[in-house]
Amino acid sequence: MIRRLSTAGMDAETDAEGRMTAPSADRNLRPILDALLPRLPQTGHVLEIASGTGQHIAALAAHRPDVIFHPTEPDATRRASIDAHCRGLPNVMEATELDACRTGWATPGSVDAVVIVNLLHLVSDGEMSVLLDEAHRALSPGGTMAIYGPFLRNGRAISAADRAFDAGLRAQDEAVGLKDIAVLETVLRVLGFDVEVVEMPAGNVMVFGRAAAVPGL
Ligand SMILES: C[S@@+](CC[C@H](N)C(=O)[O-])C[C@H]1O[C@@H](n2cnc3c(N)ncnc32)[C@H](O)[C@@H]1O
Repeated sequence: MIRRLSTAGMDAETDAEGRMTAPSADRNLRPILDALLPRLPQTGHVLEIASGTGQHIAALAAHRPDVIFHPTEPDATRRASIDAHCRGLPNVMEATELDACRTGWATPGSVDAVVIVNLLHLVSDGEMSVLLDEAHRALSPGGTMAIYGPFLRNGRAISAADRAFDAGLRAQDEAVGLKDIAVLETVLRVLGFDVEVVEMPAGNVMVFGRAAAVPGL
């Protein structure tokens, strides 16, 4: 399900070529690259869920010329922005439409990593479970899931800014809002991932899940 939620993080300027630039995506780009690049494969396929403006995937692809990147995004204007940001990068496929909370979208074992930035607080708990299950199915054995965003710790926001952000989301739709990091870790472990939690600037977190090299182990 795609919700129309208004968040400061989605404010973006658009240039004449249709490239949208979100200040928040500019701000967190460097720390995200620093956390992701050492943990992403050097070859193979990376799927990004909710690519947004395309700023992150364009930068990732420029640093990993031997990886094929697959951006996805439900919003058509943002898909045009992703394609505009990635024009000239031969290792980025055209952005495709994906509601990642819909069951059955995953092509099993088709990608070596899945990247999800700033999405989980925009979906319900049940939708998060579907999304993680599908992303897990999409991964090849030994593949990596990388999830970035703001999270609750022990059920509480860790800053006044996060508390206000969470309250603003829940005021628009009571089913959404910041997820607890412990819940995410548990779901990933139940799915069979080895989990690594990396603290990021501004109280954000990057959670890495490494799938078993032999399925079922
Ligand atoms: C806050 S933006 C983050 C975009 C980008 N990842 C970033 O960090 O700049 C959230 C994005 O999630 C997308 N989105 C919302 N619901 C979705 C869903 N069910 N499946 C996939 N993407 C979704 C929105 O269209 C939007 O582009």
